[in-house]
Amino acid sequence: IRENAPSVGDYIANYICRRINDFAPTAEKPFVLGLPTGSSPIPTYKALIKLVKAGKLSFKHVVTFNMDEYVGLPQDHPESYHTFMFREFFSHVDIPASQVHILNGNATDLIAECNAYEEKIKEYGGIELFLGGIGEDGHIAFNEPGSSLASRTRIKTLAYDTILANARFFNNDISAVPHMALTVGVATVLDSREVVVVVTGQRKALALSKAIEGGVNHLWTLSALQLHPWALIVVDEDATAEL
Ligand code: GLP
Repeated sequence: IRENAPSVGDYIANYICRRINDFAPTAEKPFVLGLPTGSSPIPTYKALIKLVKAGKLSFKHVVTFNMDEYVGLPQDHPESYHTFMFREFFSHVDIPASQVHILNGNATDLIAECNAYEEKIKEYGGIELFLGGIGEDGHIAFNEPGSSLASRTRIKTLAYDTILANARFFNNDISAVPHMALTVGVATVLDSREVVVVVTGQRKALALSKAIEGGVNHLWTLSALQLHPWALIVVDEDATAEL
């Protein structure tokens, strides 16, 4: 538990920096990092960028896999997760674009796109550390309530609550928010050797308490982390309101 969102971001960025540097990645053995979008990880991205600019961290031998992407939003739309990731992070660090993986929500065959993503992750020997955020309904990536805990990368219809919550990024126009997304599954996240989740703000307090004080269940998919041998949830004071 950290005091506020910026200190959560600093903590996670320093943590990831240490993990990458201890791993000592090379071109032959890159560090495979899973990444989220949303407002919660922005302080972490800002802090990581600072570490890179200070010469304390490099993404030259880091390979990334993003958690999810909207279906049907043009890749260059300001709210696509592709645009978000380059705007908030990738454009400011030394990662080669060829090492960035983001699901293509405009692929002609979406199922093939999802299966290929799982294969690609396997080719890299799995994800070393998956950084995640959660929705107000406790979803990790876009694994909405009711998602199987054994789910893999797939197409998911968004819950109405998620569409409402994300409307703030679309000028509060609910009709502009895509209704479907591609997302890694709960099992894809659980397969990572380590999972770090950022949860900030009182809006997430109920989800946090359900996920860590409730039982493992498919309605609050973050609760699946209870099954993971190496999971860390970093939260601010506000998010602890229901604990
Ligand atoms: C979307 C993303 C999730 C993210 C969530 C929370 O639903 N698919 O991966 O965790 O937003 O966003 P925010 O951090 O802005 O509350």
